[in-house]
Amino acid sequence: MNSRFGIEGIAVSIPSHYIDLKTLAEARGIDPAKYYVGLGGRRMAVVTPEEDPVTLAAEAARKVLGGYQVTPDDIGMLIVGSESGVDAAKPIAAYVHGLLGLNPQCRTFDTQHACYGATAALRLAADWCAQGNGRRRKALVIATDIARYEVGSAGEPTQGAGAVAMLVSTEPGVVAFDAYPDAVFTEDVMDFWRPHYRSTALVDGKYSIECYLRALEHTYEAYERSSGVRWEDFTHLLFHVPFPKMAYKAFRRLYEREAARRNGDFPPLDAEYERLTGPALWANVEVGNIYSGSLYLSLAALLERQDAAVAGGRIGLFSYGSGSCAEFFSGSVGPDASVWRGRIGVAEALAHRTEVGYETYLALRRAGEAMSKNGSFRAPGPEANGHVRFLGIHDDRRVYDRPGRRAMV
Ligand code: HMG
Repeated sequence: MNSRFGIEGIAVSIPSHYIDLKTLAEARGIDPAKYYVGLGGRRMAVVTPEEDPVTLAAEAARKVLGGYQVTPDDIGMLIVGSESGVDAAKPIAAYVHGLLGLNPQCRTFDTQHACYGATAALRLAADWCAQGNGRRRKALVIATDIARYEVGSAGEPTQGAGAVAMLVSTEPGVVAFDAYPDAVFTEDVMDFWRPHYRSTALVDGKYSIECYLRALEHTYEAYERSSGVRWEDFTHLLFHVPFPKMAYKAFRRLYEREAARRNGDFPPLDAEYERLTGPALWANVEVGNIYSGSLYLSLAALLERQDAAVAGGRIGLFSYGSGSCAEFFSGSVGPDASVWRGRIGVAEALAHRTEVGYETYLALRRAGEAMSKNGSFRAPGPEANGHVRFLGIHDDRRVYDRPGRRAMV
């Protein structure tokens, strides 16, 4: 049974630069096939010092508000799901609230649980709408992250960055959530973490894959039990995508369970994968892991490229955040593709990226680190590039420049 609450609009923001994984592999003396085929990625987003989790979030939000003609006064709740917080106290959401000029009468906060943070936000926002607490105002949920591992580590080729902004309301023209009981699974594990004193994540890579798959099995079983929805009811199955091959491993785990149940009387694995999951991954292959937004980047990409073909279908979504918390839920895509057509912006953002070489990638990393230090602020040139920019830290305060409003220090 689908409900009348869920996603009304969705838009994506992607960093302006990328590195080809072949370039990274060659610099590491590794066969590029390991990254292209073994991990399933092709390119990964690289941020400039002017891009941070706040600017990515604000850009995605500007797109979704503009695309759906939503005014700042229409937003009654703003939640940012992220594990890339820029301050231990002030949430990313507060910066975004200011940059967007939202109404002060708006509940504003961040949610954090590794890659699950945005799903927690989305479910909370949907409940808020369902209970009528918004009094017809909408919630704005933004997933924003920069995935960063040590240079030379096994996780490095899975890095990425980006943000996905979603309008949540009682007019869910994009995806109406199915109103089933929570299919969640929590386990206190050390599979992936980032201590406060580090700018890069630590990970027990192979173990993290085991934890992810275990959580998938638990949540999918709980979902099936409570919903009665079966394999054949899904038109698409989307997963958290730390690297594209992980979505394949996840799909295979569910497929094998299903095939065993039917004593092998089932279409071949790869054909089912290409039907149900493959079509959603084309942007993850280009961008890399964007942590809290990875699942929603798949959703955005599926809607954008499949367009009318996905209208009216049922999508299963699996969200996993290390540490860990996971959830399997589902929703029905709206019947009218014109509701999202031309408003998501994945292909457009990818088309405007600039490729960097290995040395530039390293230099941008170093410059980004330097920007996280007090005193890094430099007055902007006279030309803003039409986007929200991070200008550095002055007097322990982060300074942003948005089009139409010059930075104040
Ligand atoms: P690794 O050491 O590169 O692993 O680490 P590998 O040597 O096993 O190689 C990976 C795959 O490449 C293997 O395929 C190899 O066979 C293949 P598989 O057995 O998996 O199918 N391979 C090749 N293929 C073609 N040609 C070749 C070749 N050589 C090898 N020449 C690992 C891989 C994913 C562990 C590493 O990248 C890592 O640590 N990544 C970060 C952690 C991660 O992504 N974990 C996923 C689950 S946890 C999660 O999703 C949460 C997360 O998003 C964080 C959050 O919640 O906030 C990470």
